[in-house]
Amino acid sequence: MSHSAPTPSHDWDRRAFIGFLAASPIAGGLPEVARRILAAPAQQQHALITEAGQALEVFDFESAAQNKMPPAHWAYVATGVDNEDTLRANRTGFQRFGLRARRLIDVSRMDLGITLFGQQFDSPVFICPTGSNKLAHAEGEVAVARAAKAKNTLQMLSTVATTSIEDAIAARGAPVWYQLYPPRDWEACKKMVKRVEAAGSTVLVLTADLNPGSDRITLDRGRRADTRKCETCHESAGGGRGGGLGDMKRKPMFDGLGPDMLPYTYPSVTWELIKKLRDTVKMRIIVKGIATREDAALAIKHGLDGVYVSNHGGRADDGGRSSIETLPEIVAEVKSRVPVLFDSGVRRGTDVVKALALGADAVGIGRPYLWGLGAFGQPGVEKVLDLIRVETITAMRHVGATSVKSIPRSAVVASGRG
Ligand SMILES: Cc1cc2nc3c(=O)[nH]c(=O)nc-3n(C[C@H](O)[C@H](O)[C@H](O)COP(=O)(O)O)c2cc1C
Repeated sequence: MSHSAPTPSHDWDRRAFIGFLAASPIAGGLPEVARRILAAPAQQQHALITEAGQALEVFDFESAAQNKMPPAHWAYVATGVDNEDTLRANRTGFQRFGLRARRLIDVSRMDLGITLFGQQFDSPVFICPTGSNKLAHAEGEVAVARAAKAKNTLQMLSTVATTSIEDAIAARGAPVWYQLYPPRDWEACKKMVKRVEAAGSTVLVLTADLNPGSDRITLDRGRRADTRKCETCHESAGGGRGGGLGDMKRKPMFDGLGPDMLPYTYPSVTWELIKKLRDTVKMRIIVKGIATREDAALAIKHGLDGVYVSNHGGRADDGGRSSIETLPEIVAEVKSRVPVLFDSGVRRGTDVVKALALGADAVGIGRPYLWGLGAFGQPGVEKVLDLIRVETITAMRHVGATSVKSIPRSAVVASGRG
């Protein structure tokens, strides 16, 4: 993918294979409609879905959402940074690991449940915090919360959500974890986290990977390509990068904090913030954006309750290292002392099982549920969760595991491919 128009991140090998199949004699016996579908480029095949139930894989939602969403909003979801090397690496990184299939094990009864900090979920797959969900669908984070409730799935709400933590928790009917971009002004930050705790959120997820800055070129190109008058819905007074004061007006978590809360990511933030947060709220605190063993060790040293391995879905640094390749060194450092959460690039059940086998306790998805939301609202998010669940079950069965905890480390090996 270049940094021109965003394209579906689907595998090109498959497209080439389908083209070959369509042209081959074996396609001769297929009905005309099936032949046309097989002959169409992958993007058009995915665009054929008109309701959530038709989706065969999460990528079906990618082009359906792209078709429905305005170019600037789509670009916000699709963007990486700079050359988008990390964004691409997040997908190819999974090919560097293979799953070792085991046979003739009774895998008829499957249990995908997990427990994190005393909260029970029906799936190891969780909903990552993403900003401004109303840009994908009018119901935004509330639709996501309802889907999370229907599937008893962990949801994290972003500081820059377009729904308040109070409304998200009401729609989820259970605690939603809160992702924190700490306002630079400490009084504003204190007010924000106390509000979150009072609302019933139990875990603070401090995002640490955007502080150095991120240059989102695809997003800026999408904004230029969008001919609508954005000011009719929201001001974007930040000069294009990261939103500004005007944009914050529609972010309910900034209500009443005053202008000192900006910018919400800044380069001088350090580990010292953890102690201040600890002294302010009783919530569990985990740090999101850990990519090295050194920082995992510091997270433990600073008494964090969990380590969240992530490169922000390739939206923070463009160092080109995939998130899944960072997981083993972090798991080795943490030594099961605290839960390890993982995200970035997860699109398949096999990705989920690879991450779990490498030692993650839970695995997050970002863009896939936004595709579902943008395409069809709550039913789209639910179907995305269903598809990944079904694929995860199949992949677990192939490695001979009937529960998340019973997936052995030996289920995954470095394949050297990709
Ligand atoms: C549109 C979009 C908005 C995001 N907003 C936030 C955010 O506000 N806070 C945060 O910590 N991470 C944010 N992220 C990163 C996600 O939490 C997550 O780390 C990432 O999406 C996982 O990668 P994936 O999209 O490849 O699944 C965002 C990601 C996307 C795609």
